Amino acid sequence: MYDFRIEAADRATLYCDLASALEGLVAGEPDAIANMANAAALIWESLPDLNWVGFYRNIGGELVLGPFQGRPACIRIPFGTGVCGVAAATRQVQRIEDVHAFPGHIACDSASNSELVVPIMGADGELIAVLDLDSPKTARFTQEDEAGCVRLAEILATAL
Ligand code: SME
Repeated sequence: MYDFRIEAADRATLYCDLASALEGLVAGEPDAIANMANAAALIWESLPDLNWVGFYRNIGGELVLGPFQGRPACIRIPFGTGVCGVAAATRQVQRIEDVHAFPGHIACDSASNSELVVPIMGADGELIAVLDLDSPKTARFTQEDEAGCVRLAEILATAL
């Protein structure tokens, strides 16, 4: 068992420590599912106020549930539908303060009030997956969270 105990005083240090831990976790491991599973567990253990974190993979132009932490979630999401589907279709980060105000939001867990979804892009410019974080707190995710999770997605892009 790995025991990273990331308890940084500020968000910038927290994400710096998280990025280092993730780089260590995926180093030398080519299996995408193993790397997504450990990444989801690392983020779940390190970031406060989450009720779900995990991956949806791009399988033939449809998002399919990947490794995650939290309650069981919807399995397939079409591109363009919900927060994850819009992130997949546009290849743009979606940082949503109030998911109930987002058109087409998919309420997998009624506890979710805000959401951050980061596309993970391959070197060929293709979407590999999206990293999805959900929180019970409205406006949980800041610009710092977005930048930190974009960095995590960059690390994962080389490991999936
Ligand atoms: N709420 C998401 C669906 C995925 S779950 O939150 C795990 C959405 O609208 O894309």
